[in-house]
Amino acid sequence: MAFAGGKVILFGEHAVVHQRPALAAGISIGVEATATEADADRLTADPWGVDLAPGEAEGQGADLARAFATALALYPGDRPRFHVHAKVGIPGGAGLGCSAALGVAIIHALDDAMGIEREPEARGEVSLAWEKVFHGNPSGVDNMMAAVGGIAVYRRGEPLEPILARKSLPLVIAHSGESSSTKEMVSMVTRQYEREPERVGELFDGIAALVRNAKLAIKDGDHKAVGQLMDMNQALVSGLMLSTEKLERLCKVAREAGAHGAKLTGAGGGGCMIALCDSTEAAKDVESALAPHASFTAITETRSRGRAQ
Ligand code: PMV
Repeated sequence: MAFAGGKVILFGEHAVVHQRPALAAGISIGVEATATEADADRLTADPWGVDLAPGEAEGQGADLARAFATALALYPGDRPRFHVHAKVGIPGGAGLGCSAALGVAIIHALDDAMGIEREPEARGEVSLAWEKVFHGNPSGVDNMMAAVGGIAVYRRGEPLEPILARKSLPLVIAHSGESSSTKEMVSMVTRQYEREPERVGELFDGIAALVRNAKLAIKDGDHKAVGQLMDMNQALVSGLMLSTEKLERLCKVAREAGAHGAKLTGAGGGGCMIALCDSTEAAKDVESALAPHASFTAITETRSRGRAQ
């Protein structure tokens, strides 16, 4: 059974598309996949009830069919055929990296079935082709985090920089119930950047400064500082018209219930909010306060892959 996790972007979404760094963390919910030899290639994805063959298709599932063909094209043509079965445990269109986790889990399952050894980082890299089918111009952060996990700084075209956190980061995730298209949100921000390069460029640079400070605060285990930086990041992404009334309400409720800070995560325009808490106990209180306002909530303890020094 292959597994790939979802991710949250703690700092730097959108700015990361435009060559700034982002700080992201793998989460414990994700996608499981298995590949078994069959007469023909096929992908089943539950609980979506999707069952399709790779290639060009029309309508619902067309992107998935094309992405599946892209994943299969990574392997030699004379390979056996496979039925890949994926169990998706994260909501899609929520900013949690669902499509990337699905792609990485499928490629991992195919690797296992064919006895191919691939380092997690290399798997993250080859999965970018899959992500491009869905997102057009992905920064690569989602597929890299789905493959590698932990807490890390990601910058386009550079190796992932793992962060050793002194303390794990108890996060509450709450879905606004609004879904959004990453592709559309990325194009909307890119258009703003083209129209107002100075203003938007400064905003991206401000976000990059938050990433640098957050890296130090996470290394020190200073959750209060990390929370304040998250609030600042939320203010900056709101300036890019990425927040919504519902996301703002979720952030407010989380802060009032004791979170150190809160912000949207991922593409915005809907999707999820994350709130940083002091402990898992505190996270439970924040989750209870958020539940009546959210379509989905979860608590995740994000940890470094190595040990803090
Ligand atoms: O909404 P998600 O989980 O796909 O996250 C998108 C993150 C962006 O920075 C907005 C886009 C990207 O490719 O990095």
